[in-house]
Amino acid sequence: MRPVEIKDGVHWIGVIDWNCRNFHGYALSSKGTTYNAFYIEDEKKVIVDTVSKSFEGEFLCSLSHLTELEEIDYIVVNHLEPDHSGCLATMVERCKPEKIFVSPMAGKAIKTFFDCADWPLHVIKPGEEVSIGKRTLRFYETRMLHWPDNMFTYIPEEKMLFTSDAFGQNIASSERFVDEMGKEMVVDLMQQYFANIITPYAPKVLKTLETFAGLNLDLDMVCPDHGLMFRGDDVALALEKYAEFANQTPKNKAVLFYDSMWNSTERMIKAVASGLASEGISVKVMSVKANHHSDIMSEVFDAAAVVIGSPTHNNGILPGMADALTYVKGLRPKGKIGACIGSFGWSGECVNILKEWLEKMGMDIIEPNIKSKNRPDHDELKECFQLGVTIAKAVKEKTGK
Ligand SMILES: Cc1cc2nc3c(=O)[nH]c(=O)nc-3n(C[C@H](O)[C@H](O)[C@H](O)COP(=O)(O)O)c2cc1C
Ligand SMILES: [Fe+2]
Ligand SMILES: [Fe+2]
Repeated sequence: MRPVEIKDGVHWIGVIDWNCRNFHGYALSSKGTTYNAFYIEDEKKVIVDTVSKSFEGEFLCSLSHLTELEEIDYIVVNHLEPDHSGCLATMVERCKPEKIFVSPMAGKAIKTFFDCADWPLHVIKPGEEVSIGKRTLRFYETRMLHWPDNMFTYIPEEKMLFTSDAFGQNIASSERFVDEMGKEMVVDLMQQYFANIITPYAPKVLKTLETFAGLNLDLDMVCPDHGLMFRGDDVALALEKYAEFANQTPKNKAVLFYDSMWNSTERMIKAVASGLASEGISVKVMSVKANHHSDIMSEVFDAAAVVIGSPTHNNGILPGMADALTYVKGLRPKGKIGACIGSFGWSGECVNILKEWLEKMGMDIIEPNIKSKNRPDHDELKECFQLGVTIAKAVKEKTGK
């Protein structure tokens, strides 16, 4: 794609990954994604971030519509992850920049990504300002949002904030701004992105939002490195939604994810779901065979309760469940109610193992953890239904709705 001038003299020079379906190899991105980068034309010519190495040709071609590479003076590295720094080595070699601005943590880590001993690195001080002519670049360290090296770059004269992965969404589109698309869809995609990438750092998001509220920055445009940009009134929408996501306020919703070989565990899960639904709780029943772990996490994210099920398999649980549980636990969702069930044939370790997972995730566990020998009978299914009713009551107590 050709560059897009998003403000006078400020250009989007990103690339569109139309066919990306598995973001970074672990989270589904059913609508593709973009890697956004920016070019600022002033007395100094500045690049903010680059794109994934596999799009280097497109990136250089796009930039060539605006400038000769040798004319670029400054490169800002808001984040070292390869989807944004993939073309950095080439850019340094071709542009021979006067300065490369990096955060203090990136200053330490950059040599573990690049042979950069002779690069003109300038490690910023948080809040530091650099004049580029008519405009100023101001850098804010945003450590652990979501890597140690992350920072935001602000241009006060343009009221623009470049936020790296924060506020990102996975969507490939020819549109560049949220107001050119359905807002609801963008918010949904931003939530999925948050759920799968940002959740462990939710407390950090809240602190960052508080710090930025205190700074009282004039904001007219927020530019993440993935997906659509926010301008005008949509800036407030982005901030408001991020606060909402970071607070992890649960809905009257339960996610039941499970695996099953011969459908016994599945029947138990469906009975629990039926009990929950009978009390007005919205349920999502998700077999780990039919649903990718990232879609499960996206649903778990705003649910008040999580019910997990697995039969006993070789004295353990089924591997698909271990996959989903490893993934969900790693993202550290907070404040959930948990319950578990499973079928077994002889030794029956499943429920104890599942309960340990719930404990490790810090969930408030609702008992009983129901275990059925082989096929669940009518009474056991009634017990499962009743467990659903009990969970529903706990959900309503938690959400107050
Ligand atoms: C390959 C395999 C290994 C199993 N390992 C165990 C086991 O170690 N302990 C146990 O109690 N049951 C074991 N079972 C029995 C299952 O837990 C039992 O068939 C259960 O009812 C299956 O539930 P499902 O219909 O939800 O798959 C195993 C079954 C299979 C097919
Ligand atoms: Fe990243
Ligand atoms: Fe990224």
